[in-house]
Amino acid sequence: VPVSQLLRRPADIIGRADDASHPNIPLPRDLYGPKRKNSRGIELGERAALAQLVSDIAAARLPVAGSVADATESEANAAIMAARAGFKHWAATSAEIRATVLEKAADLLEARAAYYIALLQREGGKTLDDSISEVREAVDFCRYYAARGRELFGEGKAMPGPTGESNLLRLRGRGVFVAISPWNFPLAIFLGQVTAALMAGNAAVAKPAEQTPLIAAEAVRLLHEAGVPTSALHLVAGDGRIGGVLVTHPDIAGVVFTGSTEVARTINRALAAKDGPIVPLIAETGGINAMIVDATALPEQVADDVVTSAFRSAGQRCSALRLLFLQDDVADRMIEMIAGAARELVIGDPSDPATHIGPVIDAEAKQRLDAHIERMKNEARVHFAGNAPQGNYVAPHIFELSNADQLTEEIFGPVLHVVRYRADRFDQVLQSIERTGYGLTLGIHSRIEDTVEDTIERLQVGNIYVNRNMIGAVVGVQPFGGHGLSGTGPKAGGPHYLARFATEQTVTVNT
Ligand code: NAD
Ligand code: ALA
Repeated sequence: VPVSQLLRRPADIIGRADDASHPNIPLPRDLYGPKRKNSRGIELGERAALAQLVSDIAAARLPVAGSVADATESEANAAIMAARAGFKHWAATSAEIRATVLEKAADLLEARAAYYIALLQREGGKTLDDSISEVREAVDFCRYYAARGRELFGEGKAMPGPTGESNLLRLRGRGVFVAISPWNFPLAIFLGQVTAALMAGNAAVAKPAEQTPLIAAEAVRLLHEAGVPTSALHLVAGDGRIGGVLVTHPDIAGVVFTGSTEVARTINRALAAKDGPIVPLIAETGGINAMIVDATALPEQVADDVVTSAFRSAGQRCSALRLLFLQDDVADRMIEMIAGAARELVIGDPSDPATHIGPVIDAEAKQRLDAHIERMKNEARVHFAGNAPQGNYVAPHIFELSNADQLTEEIFGPVLHVVRYRADRFDQVLQSIERTGYGLTLGIHSRIEDTVEDTIERLQVGNIYVNRNMIGAVVGVQPFGGHGLSGTGPKAGGPHYLARFATEQTVTVNT
């Protein structure tokens, strides 16, 4: 099912990425990393030039973002069958060829970065800095998986054996991988899943989130242009119902899912009940992520890191900070500084380069967040309530809870919940974090080595950040993924990820 059949008039409305005749402005790196302050000054000129280019492209070519036709059930089934045929051909290509194709995709992404940034802003409501980081991450996924794939899927590994016998262990693609992605990283996570599946020698059928199918369609178009055969990669647009059709198909060989814990459970149940072979699920889900700040932490750094972790991207990151534990001796001062820093954030039009916080994804998300904020106003102490413009905007809020157990679910927006703790009851903080059942990200701000080491040892959390913010994991640097309710554990952007998309085969020859 080629993209062109699933999209209505895409070329007329969206404008094509490949018509771009814009200069190639390098993508700034590391916008949220700890070194960002050193690099910002140098990058300012480039960022401004990029912002101008993005705005010109959006005005000329994206007056309306686009339109998409949802796939029917029979188209979804047809995509799986076509991918099955495509798998045979793609699996027979060498790892070298597959890696070269991914590198070509990375080059194309970089060369057309401004176009993808404009589309991320128009379709996903992402700010300039978030869009730049996202395109960067997508490029990094392509290059990183190409490099790891060459190592993993090359010749195979010779195993020991008696004289007269050779043993070879090798990794191979499994078959048709279904890739289901969320709206909050509609380019990076979408491409990360699909390129991992393809690099491992699988065919892929990708279902993007219903809120952001256009950027996904452009990503598929780009991979086809880079050399992925149209038979090996298919886009199926639609909502969760069409996702349900794909994951229950008897001819699939694996599912990679990123999204909510609830949907991961639904998919897990569907896979267990379906006909056909037993297939693995790679699930990367949400979290009630905590940060612990003790009295030895540096207040200015804490304020900056808390605001970045809790409010950037309008809090719409699975990694975002939700629960802040403050040692009571320093809590009042810290809250005052955090609220002061939150007051400085600019909320509004994501295409304005000065904006720090854009809209939430849609009216439904706003309604859910507004309802939570109203509930918190009754059940918690309000420390900060920002002002948001009209539209799907939600301002940052800071509430103090008397008990961490008051927060029972992931709140996917710019709402920070603070809990005070006494130094002699530190153990209760760790117990509260364990009780959430999630294990995605954790922040620790402390200069006491024993506190840091004990906390790291005790908590089963996928990504731990010490004395810095806790968002923006970099591919190949901070492999990303969580435990427990946060997922099945594989680390996207890490050295072991691709192996989870493959089967192992041992060949023994009596020579
Ligand atoms: P979601 O679970 O609502 O949807 C994710 C995807 O699943 C969408 O494509 C959706 O259409 C599809 N889907 C829904 N029901 C389905 C079903 N029954 N069968 C198959 N597919 C189905 O999540 P969302 O709102 O798009 O994204 C936000 C969530 O994603 C948050 O919980 C966030 O924490 C999580 N997330 C996790 C990571 C990570 O790496 N751990 C990264 C980003 C987002
Ligand atoms: N990988 C993304 C982050 O670290 C979700 O913020």
